[in-house]
Amino acid sequence: MTMTTTRSETELPHWESIPDDLPAAIRAVKTAIRGQIAASGRSVQEVFAVVEARVRARVEEIASDRAAGREVWPVIDYADIAAGCVTPTQLHHLRRRGCLVVRGHFPHEQARAWDAGIMEYVEGNHFFERYAGPADDFFGSVGSKPEIYPVYWSPAQMQARQSDRMATVQAFLNARWSHSSDGVQWFDPERDSLYPDRIRRRPPGVDSGGLGAHCDPGNLDLWMTRAYQQAFRHLFDGTVEAYDPWDAAHRTAGPQYPGTTMCSAFRTFQGWTALSDMDHDQGVLHTVPVPEAMAYLLLRPLLPDVPDDEMCGVTTNSTFPVNERWHPLLMQALSGIPDVRAGDSVWWHCDMVHSVAPVTDQQGWGNVMYIPAAPWCPRNETYAASVRDAFHSGSSPSDFPAEDYECSWPDRFAEADLNAVGRSGLGLPPDTLT
Ligand SMILES: [Fe+2]
Repeated sequence: MTMTTTRSETELPHWESIPDDLPAAIRAVKTAIRGQIAASGRSVQEVFAVVEARVRARVEEIASDRAAGREVWPVIDYADIAAGCVTPTQLHHLRRRGCLVVRGHFPHEQARAWDAGIMEYVEGNHFFERYAGPADDFFGSVGSKPEIYPVYWSPAQMQARQSDRMATVQAFLNARWSHSSDGVQWFDPERDSLYPDRIRRRPPGVDSGGLGAHCDPGNLDLWMTRAYQQAFRHLFDGTVEAYDPWDAAHRTAGPQYPGTTMCSAFRTFQGWTALSDMDHDQGVLHTVPVPEAMAYLLLRPLLPDVPDDEMCGVTTNSTFPVNERWHPLLMQALSGIPDVRAGDSVWWHCDMVHSVAPVTDQQGWGNVMYIPAAPWCPRNETYAASVRDAFHSGSSPSDFPAEDYECSWPDRFAEADLNAVGRSGLGLPPDTLT
């Protein structure tokens, strides 16, 4: 349904749900953004050149780090985060790159025990016999073992989500963002909302095609909803120098267009915790470690070589594609994680371009629990209500296909096992008995 509200002089046309006529909406919003930039006295080409120069400087730094044998990804020890002694140099590197490996986030043996616990949980509940194939893939081969397990409520996952160690790292990462401005606290950096996600267990010997470069915060809604237009206001009004990828203003309440790829939560960082050791050349995560690349992605379709009713291939109900055709500068910076060990965790700014490399005859397991940093904010509080329902019934959270394998599994994590972090993250009142 199209819901364009009245335009004021300073407001772009916006659609709070998916427009009925996408090409017309794309034309309208591009015309309006170009007009707003022109009203600032600059052309789209001028502001794009500013963004391109800023991104190019980052890309060149990354290339020179790589050439010198320096690690592109920042790496920080959990012990330093917990002790509050991360150095200003490390913080600067994290801000520049927008991604991080936390070494020793959990003890190696703890992560290996969680991995074994997940296997006991799924095998004990006959998951592999019952698995009906990928819910989002019509041709999924029934009976084959999945790599992504649609399992959300194992004791291992919940223990990790509600652990003090997880809360410590999430608070550290949230604090990289500006969370208060204009008299508004956009999110609470000290409280996470326990966004439940799945696990991946990729066995040795597999061939995998990987996952192409993309970003996750939205697709056409990034240009078309009022909240995102406000969040990215500096990109759309000619004041691009003021754009700050670490500013949470207007990002934590607005709607997102529905679709199979949507994430209802606001995440400061996406992340996963390694449950096996993984070498850097075994089909691992890559990012374009340039947080401000979002400025490039959002302004690129406004250049005149892109047809007026297109957004460089971005459309609804689909991830935001990033590629050589439209974004060759960004693709130069694609950088993989270093070797990680079970118990390390890996994080990347929610706007960042990422991909998973292909692998042939993978050596060793590739096992992770997806646990992001999703701080308490209006958007995450709303989603937490449906998470609570899913937790109580054992069903799949509403952002994911309704596969609901765990509803009848007796040993899933129980409410009685929640600690104070877990109760707070689910929006439950404190347990007065403990
Ligand atoms: Fe993604």
